[in-house]
Amino acid sequence: MITVALPKGRIADEVLGLFTNIFGSDFAFVNRQLILQKDNFRFLLVRNQDVPIYVAYQAADLGVVGLDVLEETKIDIVRLLDLKIGKCKVVLGSKVDETLDYNKPQIKIATKMPNITRDFFSKRAVATDIIKLYGSIELAPLVNLADAIVDIVETGNTMKENNLKIDEIILESSAYLIANNNSFYAKKVDILNLYNKIEHLVKEK
Ligand code: PRP
Repeated sequence: MITVALPKGRIADEVLGLFTNIFGSDFAFVNRQLILQKDNFRFLLVRNQDVPIYVAYQAADLGVVGLDVLEETKIDIVRLLDLKIGKCKVVLGSKVDETLDYNKPQIKIATKMPNITRDFFSKRAVATDIIKLYGSIELAPLVNLADAIVDIVETGNTMKENNLKIDEIILESSAYLIANNNSFYAKKVDILNLYNKIEHLVKEK
């Protein structure tokens, strides 16, 4: 049995689509159930940011999660494969009519990704005051809570509609298949078997 943690939403649907394709029968969660058991697999539906935790603690053998979340949580897992889905960018953004002044002492950055933000600015020796928020990050510069934001951009619409521009791209992200270190050794044959089948489909895209 292999347990796979999936992030709720479109990525879970796309990954279950891959399994449906590989095994030729329907893999889908029923109503609001959070566990799906089928054939030799058990899928768990979890919050995106929680996927690395389920995998690190071996509540799941495998997981699917964005590179942005992996970089933010810095948990020790095996990165198996870039699934080339769920593509997005982590960017530094600010108001369209303002130029970010990196020399300003303690520029204020609002973000839900404080670790990525800290790493980015410390590499440039820029002193920042990182303001951790949980959502609607784009609002912060509009009400002078922050000078700039570090946030996810997918279509770019949210930033555009709130008069923000991208100043720099910090990270190009997509969803990765990850494994627990111990599971990877204990279930290596089964995991590599699955890996090969998924890799074949990802390459075809
Ligand atoms: C993310 C992100 C942006 C938005 C970007 O937020 O933080 O706000 O999506 O998407 P776009 O470039 O396609 O407009 P999410 O929808 O996850 O909500 P949240 O702000 O509550 O985290």
